[in-house]
Amino acid sequence: MTSLLILNGPNLNLLGTRQPEVYGATTLADIEAACTAHAKTRGISIAFAQTNHEGEMLDLIHAAKGTHKGIILNAGAYTHTSVALMDAIQSVEIPVIELHLSNIHAREAFRQKSFIAQVAVGQICGFGAIGYTLAIDAIIDHLGKKSAVGA
Ligand code: DQA
Repeated sequence: MTSLLILNGPNLNLLGTRQPEVYGATTLADIEAACTAHAKTRGISIAFAQTNHEGEMLDLIHAAKGTHKGIILNAGAYTHTSVALMDAIQSVEIPVIELHLSNIHAREAFRQKSFIAQVAVGQICGFGAIGYTLAIDAIIDHLGKKSAVGA
């Protein structure tokens, strides 16, 4: 069965209470439950993870090789700072969808720069928690196209 990794970075464990006017009232546990249910309807499995540590994110991305067919990545603030995350994604050659709850392009200038964007298949941002299930559908569609052309 196709498996995806949904990886969440720093401060996303605080969803629900963290700036709800920006990130919404949905908790990360709610999002995980919605993703698990949605994945089931799509006939795939997911692993859901959160860490506040950049190095642990790198380890999880490395470990995804051979285990997961795609990664949905909300790297939080590391999106805007981490060349190491960008290199890790490029190194494992697993398709990544970059995800943000908020519309990073409509926020502070420093959030409009993403190191992930240039190595991601695409980006979903600004739709809040529903972005996660949109990303699951987007990566399934992408993987289908890849196998159709034999890539
Ligand atoms: C975020 C956007 C980032 O700029 C911020 O640092 C986060 C959350 C989002 O989901 O909107 O932690 O990735």
